[in-house]
Amino acid sequence: MSRVSHPMRISPSFPLLNPQAVHVWFCELVHYTGRQDSLAAQLSDDERVRAARFAFERDRQRFILSHGVLRLLLSRYTQMDAGEIQFVTGEHGKPAVSGPSGAAAGIQFSLSHSGAYALVAVAHGRDVGVDIEVPKADLECLKLAERFFAPAESQAIAKVHGEEQQRLFYRLWTAKEAYLKGRGVGLSLGLDRFAIVFDEPSSGARVRLTDSRTFDQTWQIQSLSLPDHLAGAVAVEGGGCELHRYETTAFIRD
Ligand SMILES: CC(C)(COP(=O)(O)OP(=O)(O)OC[C@H]1O[C@@H](n2cnc3c(N)ncnc32)[C@H](O)[C@@H]1OP(=O)(O)O)[C@@H](O)C(=O)NCCC(=O)NCCS
Repeated sequence: MSRVSHPMRISPSFPLLNPQAVHVWFCELVHYTGRQDSLAAQLSDDERVRAARFAFERDRQRFILSHGVLRLLLSRYTQMDAGEIQFVTGEHGKPAVSGPSGAAAGIQFSLSHSGAYALVAVAHGRDVGVDIEVPKADLECLKLAERFFAPAESQAIAKVHGEEQQRLFYRLWTAKEAYLKGRGVGLSLGLDRFAIVFDEPSSGARVRLTDSRTFDQTWQIQSLSLPDHLAGAVAVEGGGCELHRYETTAFIRD
């Protein structure tokens, strides 16, 4: 049994995940600060140890809130108690819900957090990756792109300036991170080993592998339009998926 039953209300109209669907959850962590203790009570020993390692209270709080909300979301998809969910990590650190049988089977997720925001993507029977970034106005976008991105990407960034340059940089960055996170390879696959090619004017994108100059047909990328100038993207394995966007506050509240 879990240590405590979670006291937050999850709406009975919580969306059902059909096999074609990918759910992307946007979470403003500030809405859950008053629930930090009850969310912390759902965390595993491992998550508590990780939370305790943060030097700053604000970072500790954001870790607890994002992992607590992740557990609440996954509890609905897996029909498990939030505090009962266990994770396993892949070779490069990608977490997955453990448990070979029951409703947990087939549920895949990805978590990203930046500043006071978190994004969670959930799918059934296919890998997903998600990334959110709070843009930094003073970031040296072009220098970073020239150093880390594929040449085609840094050349595209060099052609634009000011806010447009910053927007393109973060659009590429989040798309690249979402792809890496979907595949679960992290930075072991260099950021210059593949280039994001946007399918303008849609918000979709594909991945061109630098070495073979072929497209990775397995993955679809979608840039997300988020509030507060946030940048975000989701990468989905396989074709023909329906993307559904939700805000956690519509379904998880006091
Ligand atoms: C760890 C990494 C997967 C994502 O890191 P990130 O963008 O800093 O952080 P995010 O908040 O988006 O993602 C972190 C979450 O991804 C998950 N994660 C960790 N390793 C993962 C992997 N190999 N694959 C997929 N997901 C992973 C975890 O849930 C983690 O959350 P937690 O640390 O709270 O447990 C990795 O790609 C990384 O270190 N990136 C560095 C970012 C960077 O410097 N980019 C350069 C741009 S110029």
